[in-house]
Amino acid sequence: MPADRILIPSEKIQRRVREMAAQIEADYPAGPIYLVSVLKGAFIFVADLARALSRPEIRIEFMAISSYGHEKTSSGQVQLTRDLDVNIEGQHVLIVEDIIDSGLTLSYLKRLLEQRKPKSLEIATLLDKPDRRVTPVEVKYVGFQIPDEFVVGYGLDFAEDYRNLGDIRVLAE
Ligand code: IMP
Ligand code: MG
Repeated sequence: MPADRILIPSEKIQRRVREMAAQIEADYPAGPIYLVSVLKGAFIFVADLARALSRPEIRIEFMAISSYGHEKTSSGQVQLTRDLDVNIEGQHVLIVEDIIDSGLTLSYLKRLLEQRKPKSLEIATLLDKPDRRVTPVEVKYVGFQIPDEFVVGYGLDFAEDYRNLGDIRVLAE
């Protein structure tokens, strides 16, 4: 099954990631920033974003959440499958996500991390599908707004395939 149509070519993604990193550097005071990335989809984005940030105190942490299973639409149920293993109290925390769709995942995560009293808590997402929002979520950094189409590549999968593609593509039906 070919993933045929390129929606965002890799060079354009790279350029935008560098812009986002510059914005983040400008917004945060000197010192540590905890990039809390959501597995698995955000692993490539966080790797590129982290390398585009210039301060040494970029802490990279992972959580895992499942809501999709092997379907293209959300099950509506969000489950924490891997928690952080660090204390984020008093820290600047930036959640790094691949895509915000219904908003269920991020609103769940934001509520969960808020309880741990970080100094600040913001969201950076590479992609945003605003048409599909069910739960409103405040997102500070957005790479690209995209139409309501199922995309793969640059970390995003369909049934665990296509994560390794450099471009973001619309999956052929
Ligand atoms: P939300 O909870 O509906 O906002 O869904 C967020 C999660 O659904 C993302 O982290 C992705 O794992 C997955 N997802 C949503 N849209 C897509 C897509 O177009 N391609 C691949 N995964 C997607
Ligand atoms: Mg994801």
